[in-house]
Amino acid sequence: MKTLLKLQIILAFLMTLNYYVQAENQPSGSRQAILLTAFGTTVPEANTAYQNIEEEFRKAFPTTEIRWAYTSEFIRKKLRKQGNTVHSPAMALSALAEDGYRQVFVQSLHIIPGKEYHDLLDMAYRFDQMPEGIEKIVVADPLLTSDADMRSVTKAMAGNLPKERKDSEAVIFMGHGSHHPANIYYPGMQYYLWNEDDCLFVGTVEGTPDLESILPKLDKQHVEKVWLSPLMAVAGDHAKNDMAGDEPQSWKSMLEAKGYQVNTILEGMAERDNIVSVWIRHLKQKMTKN
Ligand code: CO
Repeated sequence: MKTLLKLQIILAFLMTLNYYVQAENQPSGSRQAILLTAFGTTVPEANTAYQNIEEEFRKAFPTTEIRWAYTSEFIRKKLRKQGNTVHSPAMALSALAEDGYRQVFVQSLHIIPGKEYHDLLDMAYRFDQMPEGIEKIVVADPLLTSDADMRSVTKAMAGNLPKERKDSEAVIFMGHGSHHPANIYYPGMQYYLWNEDDCLFVGTVEGTPDLESILPKLDKQHVEKVWLSPLMAVAGDHAKNDMAGDEPQSWKSMLEAKGYQVNTILEGMAERDNIVSVWIRHLKQKMTKN
């Protein structure tokens, strides 16, 4: 038993050594890294979604360096006060350049190609123009970009619902919503969801459609019970408070006040592998093209 353990330790050591030798031997122009870039969250339980993303990406890209960045300055500041530092995309790219990575694939873990995504594109473009440092920076698409994404994501969302949910019961997915023109992805998604199941609805906290506009449709379908589920990567602050909170302004409270029975699903989209696989597909597409 002891010998076996010793052998295992030696083997693990050799494998690590081999990994480093391989990384060092890569010509400097081909040293690649992946920068997973999310909005960020300060809700500790919500981190399980980000952990799942990391696990799935490590499985898909086992030999590539993987790092994180958060696009929300507000979240980064709040985390820093708690002694937890997560880099901004710019800081993470600087560190990667300093560490000798020459090709960086930035994966946008946002849901729609909205403001956060476009700011990220802009920033990556500026970094790419710098005379020294990283030679090539490629940004991979957020979750919802193409027709194929809309089909596979809505199919996964319908398939991921709890078995206890009956066909006559409505499900409202709570998206963030945006003032950016890409908000159109939310009403767009409604079309794809209705192709799956006519009791699935999309609402947003800050954009179109809002909860108010869904109510007459629930009425029309004689719905008695409503399930609420986040259309966000993590079940963070919006899911906990605006969706499932006990305050009178939460969607749960507003629907209950209208007489509906309400069940909440506190699960981020990124906790499901069939959702994460869409982001992985986006990154693989960029990698084979570049
Ligand atoms: Co928000």
